[in-house]
Parts: sequence; C-alpha cells; structure tokens
Amino acid sequence: MSKLPYLGFGLGLRPPHYDSILNPDTELNVDWFEAITEDFLIDGGNPLYYLDRVRERYPVVLHGVSLSIGSTDPLNPEYLKRWKNLINRINPIWISDHFCWTGVHGINLHDLMPLPCTEEALNHVVERVKQVQDYTGRQLLLENTSSYVEYPNADMTEWEFVTEVCKRADSLLLLDVNNIYVSAFNHGFNPNDFLNAIPEDRVQQIHLAGHSNLGTHIVDTHDAPVVDGVWSLYKNALKRFGAVSTMIERDDNIPPLPELLDEDTSMEAHVVGEDLEFRQTRLNVYHNGYTLRLLETLEKCYPALVSVIGEELFETIAREYIAADPSRHFCLSVMCERFSHFLSTHSSVDPIFAELAEFESTLDQVLGAADGPHLTFDQMVAALAPEDWANLILELHPSLVVRSFHYPIPAFWQH
Ligand SMILES: [Fe+2]
Repeated sequence: MSKLPYLGFGLGLRPPHYDSILNPDTELNVDWFEAITEDFLIDGGNPLYYLDRVRERYPVVLHGVSLSIGSTDPLNPEYLKRWKNLINRINPIWISDHFCWTGVHGINLHDLMPLPCTEEALNHVVERVKQVQDYTGRQLLLENTSSYVEYPNADMTEWEFVTEVCKRADSLLLLDVNNIYVSAFNHGFNPNDFLNAIPEDRVQQIHLAGHSNLGTHIVDTHDAPVVDGVWSLYKNALKRFGAVSTMIERDDNIPPLPELLDEDTSMEAHVVGEDLEFRQTRLNVYHNGYTLRLLETLEKCYPALVSVIGEELFETIAREYIAADPSRHFCLSVMCERFSHFLSTHSSVDPIFAELAEFESTLDQVLGAADGPHLTFDQMVAALAPEDWANLILELHPSLVVRSFHYPIPAFWQH
C-alpha cells in the first residue's frame, strides 16, 4: 500500500471547538484533526455537517474505539458498513482503532480492555486486521492502550505483540506515548524498552495525553495537560522515529482551543514508578469505568431531566437502568435512546418527567437523523406542471418526528 503522508501537529476534534475551528477569522496553529469514528456513524444531521465543513478545510483522520479487534465475537457487520460509508464520505487521510477488545457476547463495555499477549491472540488479531484492511481498502493503524492489569499467561511482551501484528498483517502503529508511560508505571517496565523495540517504519501517528497519578497506579484520564515525563518520552520517540504526525488528546476538562494549543512543551526526565500492589484497585478502574462512562453519557443526553429531578435521583435511576439493560450497540447514543422508555416504566418516576426524557431523547435523534433534500413551496411549483399535481407524492423529511405528549413538555423544557 502507498506511503501515508506526514501531517504535522494535530488535535482531537471535539464539539466545543467546532465554532473556533470553522470561524474564518481564526488563524489556528494546527495542521489536522482526528475525529472519533463512533461520533459520526449516524445517518446525517449536525455532527456530520460539522465534520464535512472541517474536512473541507483540514486533513482529517478517523480514530475508532469500538472495532473490538481482539474480541471473540465476529466483527460487527453494521459497524463495518457504517464505517466504510463514513470513509467514503470524508476520505480520511488514515483510519485507526486500538489493540483491545471492547465487549463480548454482544455486550459493549465502551472501554479498551487489554489483550492477552499470547500466540493465540496474536493469530486472531492478525486475521481480523487483514479482514478489516480488505474490507476498507485501507491500511489500519492500531494504537497501544493503557492497561491496569496483565494476564498471567503471556507468551511475549506487549511491544513484541504489536510489532508482530504490524509485520504479519502489514498494518501500522498509532503509538500513544502517554499510554506507554502509564502502562510502564503500572506494570513496572522501562518505557524505553517499548520504544526501542518498535520497527521505525511502522509508526504513522503519535498520541500525547494527560493522566491522573493515583500513587499506586496511573489512570489514563485524558483530562489534564501532558506531564513532563511523557514529553521526555516523546522526545526519545522522535529521536528514534523521526518526524511523526502527533496530536494531543483531551476528552474531559476541555479548555478553549487557544489554551490547548499553548500547552506547555517543556521536556524533563521522567521517572518510572515501581510496580505496586493493589491489583483489585486497578481492576476497579475497568469495573467503575463502565458505569461512570454510561452515567456521564446519560447525563449529557438528558440535561433538562437532571436539572428538574436532581443529580442524586437521576443517578440512582440511571444506575438501575445500566444494570438492567447492558449496552449492546457501538454507539452510546442508542443506549441513551432506550433510557426514556425505561423511565416510562419506572414506578418512582412521575409521568411528566418520563415525557420530558422522551422529548430530550427525540431532540437527540432529530439532530442525528438522515439528511434529505429540502423543497420549498416555490421550488415545487416551479418543478411541476399543474396537471401533475394530482399524482404528487410527498415524502416527509427524515428528521421530522411527531410525538404527542400528555403534558406541555416543550414549554416545560424551555424553562
Ligand atoms: Fe491515545
């Protein structure tokens, strides 16, 4: 496959920055953007509108979190199809996902679970990477993840595993330098051993990010500036790999764009922590992460409901829902949609609040509905001869949804 280009310095594409990015008066010191694939596996609407506009101005790459390359479930055909449609639509410079599994038996954990570094897993992943590359017609980049626990039966190190996948499947690497730093601290290896083992010609992109050091272990939170130790490791990576397209990931506590672009780039020596105990605490990072991620998504989807019933009651009901109906779809929005139905059957939820939830859920669906042609009355008159009017079949715009409510919900929502 042909060599992919060097893009320079990029940033994760996040909705709070859309207006700044698209403002023609703003001069941004950024060369390209990385969009989260799953945010755009929808039929149309606002998110795709913004992505198209950003793509008109900048190179864009697609970065996925739900391919689940290591799962024993078959690759999801609906996911693959929507992904390919998106690739055809925006023509990303490259596509990527992670060395991980994100669910099994049809349940989606919405988390990047570590792979066992065994021969069996290696063969499995290589076959699936080949399958993805054949289907998309693109070389796939896979990213090393942060991990908090390791499997006891490894046949090889993580860096040997990722190197072998690249060689056998002819795939590429998205090297996350922060993830190397985090995993090195958590498992007690030297991060430079990881860097030094990676073939130079396979690294196409680098991620940098901030994390939270809890003393006993580091959690990859993407909510803070990059620490000096990660900058130092990045410096070593550049010495080894030369110029590699690099971007900073920030998913929470997202600052205004200029602040993010000014992030401190000072370099200092890093210290690798010792491997410490508390395995259960680390396992809890995954255990708690699932519920917290879903809770956070539900809160974002139902802001009006949260404000009227209060965070405490909302969280109690949302936790019941998450336990009763595990997420099965690669898009978290599907899990959000079903929540309003759960509320309508819940004995401690007043029907007016259930209807408010249904209203908020509908708004979300409308914003992501398929695009359709708009036809004004004047255009219709101009296009049709009067004698053809009797045969006219009108189709409703795909974003039109009709809902009836027992209560004056739109007015209630506006307050
Ligand atoms: Fe990353």
